[in-house]
Amino acid sequence: MKIQNLTLWYGKKNVLKWVSADFLPWEFVFLIGGSGSGKTSFIKSIIWDLKPKQGTILTNSEKDLYKLSKRELLAYRRKIGIIFQDFKLLRNKTVRENVAFAMEVCGYSDIIIHEKVPEILSQVGLLAKKDAFIETLSGWEVQRVSIARALIHNPEIIIWDEPTGNLDPKNAKEIIDILLEINKQGKTILLATHDDRIVNALRKRVIAFEDGKIVSDMNDGIYCI
Ligand SMILES: Nc1ncnc2c1ncn2[C@@H]1O[C@H](COP(=O)(O)OP(=O)(O)O)[C@@H](O)[C@H]1O
Ligand SMILES: [Mg+2]
Repeated sequence: MKIQNLTLWYGKKNVLKWVSADFLPWEFVFLIGGSGSGKTSFIKSIIWDLKPKQGTILTNSEKDLYKLSKRELLAYRRKIGIIFQDFKLLRNKTVRENVAFAMEVCGYSDIIIHEKVPEILSQVGLLAKKDAFIETLSGWEVQRVSIARALIHNPEIIIWDEPTGNLDPKNAKEIIDILLEINKQGKTILLATHDDRIVNALRKRVIAFEDGKIVSDMNDGIYCI
């Protein structure tokens, strides 16, 4: 994916200014920057939640995101697994039902759902808890269900906006280990975070935002704001 010169306005406020970046399969990328620096706006532009006024996003098939047909756009979105901050899980249903439901609304057949759900739950270490109700889970187990939901389309890119905010270091590490494992399968990971310990421990690519601009983009980077 190649992002070129994104420029986004909220009314009179210019929140993304000529933002460019390329992402390759296998890359694990941290997006860092102070509150209000543009990380979430950048992510929302990638998933087409917001439409920048200028700039292009080229998909892996070299097509311009902003020129895709409705059908192509749907296919594009399915290549991106977004992990929502507010989870959007059904609290009175089980772990398995939550993942199955997400697949059902996307039109997957019962046979596929039956086969895929256990596979996905084992990827996030939740198979043993498949029949537990969401409301009985700990915060970090709920986060795993959210990761599971993001995996249903077998996406090429996983995006997570501010994941580990309220996790203790041990649970944060377990969640990050799951992402590293997913990354090893060739999926790009984009992670917006304030957690300097995780960024510094992993030494992955780090893109720093400041005032709507990318001010540094380094492989093997550290938390540098
Ligand atoms: N819905 C909105 N309406 C107007 N301004 C917004 C809206 N969402 C975000 N902003 C502004 O856009 C800027 C970038 O915000 P955001 O992308 O959320 O940054 P970050 O995720 O890095 O904290 C901030 O100045 C913020 O106040
Ligand atoms: Mg944000």
